[in-house]
Amino acid sequence: MERKIHAAAVVAILILGAGAASAIETITFPNRIGQVSFPHKKHQDALGQCRGCHEKGPGEIDGFDKVLAHGKGCKGCHEAMKRGPVLCKGCHGGG
Ligand code: HEC
Ligand code: HEC
Ligand code: HEC
Repeated sequence: MERKIHAAAVVAILILGAGAASAIETITFPNRIGQVSFPHKKHQDALGQCRGCHEKGPGEIDGFDKVLAHGKGCKGCHEAMKRGPVLCKGCHGGG
């Protein structure tokens, strides 16, 4: 079940930047209440590490779903760090 949600979640991965070896710029989660655009590279730069998000190494995250996104996978970290959006519209409905 989670795998199914997960497989549907990541449709668009834009790999930008010649030379910057496979820096993933943005990951888009299509969503019935409004698409979430996740600025992946910006997070890499701001956080300076992959761990914290990728516990088992870079790549897909097992069981990434709404519960994780609204918890430590996205929103929980924003709350803890007091940075990044915590309101629905801050994540949903963006380009
Ligand atoms: C703020 C959290 C966060 C940080 C920091 C982060 N990532 Fe990610 N990354 C994600 C999320 C969320 C996904 C989408 C995962 C999924 O859908 O399973 C992802 C996806 C990826 C993917 C693509 C997986 C696929 O779908 O093929 C790669 C590769 C990746 N990250 C590498 C990295 C590397 C390397 C770093 C460190 C330099 C890093 N990430 C830092 C959250 C993060
Ligand atoms: C920090 C970013 C963030 C915030 C804030 C946030 N969400 Fe989400 N939400 C996500 C992500 C990312 C997903 C997608 C998870 C997936 O597809 O695996 C998601 C998924 C969802 C889904 C599932 C939709 C579907 O198609 O199954 C609903 C509903 C939802 N969010 C509602 C809300 C509501 C309501 C709020 C405010 C109370 C909110 N979200 C706040 C990031 C956020
Ligand atoms: C480990 C902590 C952490 C996690 C996990 C995390 N974020 Fe963030 N997020 C941040 C920080 C820190 C910033 C502020 C970055 C900056 O200002 O450069 C931020 C900023 C943002 C912004 C605003 C970017 C901008 O241009 O101002 C968005 C949108 C966002 N996050 C979405 C997400 C989504 C969606 C997820 C989950 C897929 C997520 N974040 C997961 C720490 C996190």
